[in-house]
Amino acid sequence: MSFEGKTALVSGAASGIGKETALRFAQRGARLICADKNSTGAAATAADIEAAGGKATAVALDVTEPSQISAVIDEAAANGGIDILVNNAGITIVGSVETLTPAEWDTEFDVNLKSIYLMSNAVWPHFKAKQSGVILNTASIAGQIGIAQDAAYCASKAAVIMLTRCMAVDGAPDRIRVNCVCPGFIDTPMIEGFFDDQEDPAAARAFATKLHPLGRLGVPADIANGFLFLASDEAEWVTGTALTIDGGLTAALPTG
Ligand code: NAI
Repeated sequence: MSFEGKTALVSGAASGIGKETALRFAQRGARLICADKNSTGAAATAADIEAAGGKATAVALDVTEPSQISAVIDEAAANGGIDILVNNAGITIVGSVETLTPAEWDTEFDVNLKSIYLMSNAVWPHFKAKQSGVILNTASIAGQIGIAQDAAYCASKAAVIMLTRCMAVDGAPDRIRVNCVCPGFIDTPMIEGFFDDQEDPAAARAFATKLHPLGRLGVPADIANGFLFLASDEAEWVTGTALTIDGGLTAALPTG
């Protein structure tokens, strides 16, 4: 798979899945725009790419801020264009409907779901004008099965899967392909924080590991490789899909 001559914008590129995705697209020739609220982290990812001989710029971007989004997307479109948008930034706020505050609920949905609408809305006219473009979203197995004390996160990720399908249907006439990935538990700072929020973090990690029949937590590269396929020409007939990459978690009934 080659992305020579293509530009990819990855949100949440400072850390975890987003960082690895940016690095892997760059290794295959893409020019990267590394976007993150954490501008220092985004700059570090771009520096890593450049140090490895790739092409990258970093932008400070809060994906909940429409004015920042249109500035970043329009600038990218005017300077070399944009071919692949990876809507990956996300957060998790632990809680049930009993404990989550309205503000926490709104924040979860703003970052995980509304941002995808805002980013895609901004890039859509550019993709439509050139009759091509790929949008990739990071959903989760949490959008397919319920997780205790994670109500807003699970609900937001289920909505990401449906939004992906709707955008795929709407984009098809203009050759805009839209897909998402549904990762299992991936060893990143986010999941570390999730474990730390549990009563016994070590036990939570061991329990989560056991949920995956393939016997380990995922690593960011497992997900980045899925994104590479979905963005590639080899996936030219793939749109509206939710690619589950979870070490078998959702295929299995947990045992002992
Ligand atoms: P991470 O915490 O390592 O990285 C998330 C990045 O998003 C951070 O760099 C953070 O600064 C950025 N971010 C957060 N809010 C932002 C905002 N408002 N604007 C711009 N950037 C913002 O987390 P990880 O694990 O790499 O997560 C990436 C995506 O994968 C998220 O959407 C997450 O929900 C999803 N995911 C993660 C799983 C896991 O087990 N780690 C499992 C399934 C899905």
